[in-house]
Amino acid sequence: MRSGSLRIAAAAHDIFAYQGDALILPLLEGGEPLRGAVKTLDAALKGAITHLLQQKSFRRKFSERFLLHPTGRLGVPQLLLVGLGKASELTQDRVRQVTGTALRQLRALRARTVAIAVHDAVWGPLESETVAQSISEGALLGLYRFDLHKAKQNRDRSAEIESLALLCTDRRAARAMRNRIAVGEVLANATNLARDLINEPANVLTPAELAVRARRVARRYGLSARVLDRRAMRRLGMGALLGVAQGSANPPQLILLTHRGGDRRGKPALGLVGKGVTFDAGGISIKASEGMETMKGDMAGAAAVIGAMAGIAALRVPLHVVGVIPAVENMPSGTAQRPGDIVRAMNGTTIEVINTDAEGRLILADALCYAGRLGAKHLVDVATLTGGVVVALGSVRTGFFSNDRALAEQLQAAGEAAGEKLWELPLDDEYEELIKSDHADLKNTGGGKKAPAIGAARFLKHFVGDTPWVHLDINGTSLQEKEGGYQPKGATGVMTRTLINLALSLAIERHP
Ligand code: BES
Ligand code: ZN
Ligand code: ZN
Repeated sequence: MRSGSLRIAAAAHDIFAYQGDALILPLLEGGEPLRGAVKTLDAALKGAITHLLQQKSFRRKFSERFLLHPTGRLGVPQLLLVGLGKASELTQDRVRQVTGTALRQLRALRARTVAIAVHDAVWGPLESETVAQSISEGALLGLYRFDLHKAKQNRDRSAEIESLALLCTDRRAARAMRNRIAVGEVLANATNLARDLINEPANVLTPAELAVRARRVARRYGLSARVLDRRAMRRLGMGALLGVAQGSANPPQLILLTHRGGDRRGKPALGLVGKGVTFDAGGISIKASEGMETMKGDMAGAAAVIGAMAGIAALRVPLHVVGVIPAVENMPSGTAQRPGDIVRAMNGTTIEVINTDAEGRLILADALCYAGRLGAKHLVDVATLTGGVVVALGSVRTGFFSNDRALAEQLQAAGEAAGEKLWELPLDDEYEELIKSDHADLKNTGGGKKAPAIGAARFLKHFVGDTPWVHLDINGTSLQEKEGGYQPKGATGVMTRTLINLALSLAIERHP
């Protein structure tokens, strides 16, 4: 996990005592007169804020911003007013979003040392500790950039923000915020770790390199790591996974990460399975070339699982969690599998491969079986699985499927807390028609344009048995074309924070 160079700290400081490059002043929309720290500041600025509000030059709408260059008593040359919108509509996610946007603006203005007001009443109904965590998440997520492969002179190094001070009313408040700032840092750094893996090109991030990175993460956070090679997978009967891998010169890897929080010996309470296709050319059912470069991100599910495992370990979540990552490259070649081939998954189910581009479900089939074999009591898989989910939900919500009400609700709550939007899609038995094969137990695609995301989910269901399970199709949400809020353009690392929250909530359930 890269923590970047940003230091975040709580400080019991009067607004006037802070010396730095910029101060962010959040303002709630509404008719009431300015209060507390904001009122004092306004007075020191000879009523400048009141004046702006009266003139309606600044309305305090959510995410609206106005930059002032104050002179006199304030210890900063730049004062950034940030609208929070209505108090009744303020959420943790809005806090993350305004923080991310404001900090990116100040970075572009070359600010290095920044403070943000967290004094009483500034953030209205939200508790200051909650706000502190959200600010810390929003800051690290929003300032993320991927410039590893750029020469120094082509990077934007001069504009790195070095410190963010959360100014609050007194020492007690500052102490209370510290813990939550650290939690926010873990969640954001876990997500940024996932983003780094996703943004990395496929010539660098092969299945073997993904295994190296996973091992590095394990060493750093005290997870145990194991990697199974092709021979071991053959012995386990993972014919579906191996079929996908056989067209590539880069050998497949089955990466296992374990966090033994809570109990040392028992079975894992949670198994996280992430699709790790380091490049999806489609295989013999080759994809069109336009936009194919984005297929380096077909391991975003794997990245979310690796990030989540790092976060779960860093937070010392008292829960036994295992991460299972099937890592392969889906390439066309003389050794590649063909449409019409029939493969046998680890649980004995035979699969007719109609389309070699529907490879995600094939590798997940064996990985889910394996996680089940390890005895995982709950299973969650994350995958950039179908174009269908993008048709249904665009790039706003992650589609999810589940065979278990309680787990589905728990996951939804975990997503809500992370600000990662989810939408449940159905798994009715009638959809089974889509994947019935004439020649094998199942086929890997079918139905043409009919409910492809659901067909894929029904397919996966054959490999989880009776274990409570959630399938997350992140194909629409793993990349964003435009920056906004705490999301820079590119990889989102979506579901990393949701999975960490889920582990936390399962742990609380066991040790209330
Ligand atoms: N990795 C892709 C998902 C995908 C699809 C990404 C479209 C970007 C755009 C997945 O492996 C895939 O190719 N899915 C196909 C399956 C189809 C061939 C049945 C899809 O959903 O189009
Ligand atoms: Zn594919
Ligand atoms: Zn794919």
